[in-house]
Amino acid sequence: MRPHVVVHNVASMDGRLTLAPGVDLMAGDERWTAMTADLPDPYAWARTTHDPQVFLEGSGSFLNPVRAALQGVEPAPAPEGVHFLPDDVVGVPGRRWFAVVDGAGVVDLQFTEWPDPTWAGWHSLVLTSLAAPAAHLELLRQRHIPYVMVGEKRVALGRALELLHDLLGVETVVSTGGGRLGGALLRQGLVDEIDVELLPWAIGGRRMPVLFDAAPLAPDEWPTRLELLSSEVVGEGRVRLRYRVVR
Ligand SMILES: NC(=O)c1ccc[n+]([C@@H]2O[C@H](COP(=O)([O-])OP(=O)(O)OC[C@H]3O[C@@H](n4cnc5c(N)ncnc54)[C@H](OP(=O)(O)O)[C@@H]3O)[C@@H](O)[C@H]2O)c1
Repeated sequence: MRPHVVVHNVASMDGRLTLAPGVDLMAGDERWTAMTADLPDPYAWARTTHDPQVFLEGSGSFLNPVRAALQGVEPAPAPEGVHFLPDDVVGVPGRRWFAVVDGAGVVDLQFTEWPDPTWAGWHSLVLTSLAAPAAHLELLRQRHIPYVMVGEKRVALGRALELLHDLLGVETVVSTGGGRLGGALLRQGLVDEIDVELLPWAIGGRRMPVLFDAAPLAPDEWPTRLELLSSEVVGEGRVRLRYRVVR
């Protein structure tokens, strides 16, 4: 069994997640800051709406320009390594997680808990694969950052979600990662809900990070059918849309 998975993003009206390839919003961009000036904290919306135990981020948000993209999906059953789940971190009642998908073991996470009081109780967590270098895993252990290791070259997302449920009791995951993480989750049938806020701006552009950045559909593959749960105009022309994936 796996948790309920919601993909939550803020996008331009044409589905772009950033202004150009390689523009990392975590590093800040004055245009995006201006475009989202009247936007309340999107994490706060996701927290109150979905009450997740995990926010999931992609490594791309930490590592632009993006590394050479690995292709493909981990075969099932995915090989598992030895997870690092120290009791004094994992056993804290009500623990919640800010998790990063980092199959290659390259994201240099500098925090265990955000200093911001609104994030009290949230701890960093890494989902990684057997490809992560031993020295990186050692660094995570030294920093007391738990990790779950599943997949040979990259994280086997489906199994990783099952492990979050089985090992950490996670019921709901909100993925706020970039389009490649959203795309991988969508293509692997791991998305249950899509919750986007569209900004009244059009960005355009080729090879842009978009909501679901994945391989094109094969001739026998169908798009993902959605059912509208709610639509709401908020702020100055922003539109919040929630859809459920129809199985
Ligand atoms: N507007 C928004 O709401 C929003 C939100 C987040 C990010 N962004 C922007 O979007 C950009 C980053 O987006 P991005 O698409 O390049 O990166 P991303 O989605 O954040 O990162 C790609 C992630 O997907 C994982 N992944 C992709 N395919 C996979 C597969 N088949 N199996 C397992 N894992 C897979 C990668 O894992 P590996 O590292 O293991 O390959 C990596 O963690 C940045 O500019 C960021 O600022 C915008």
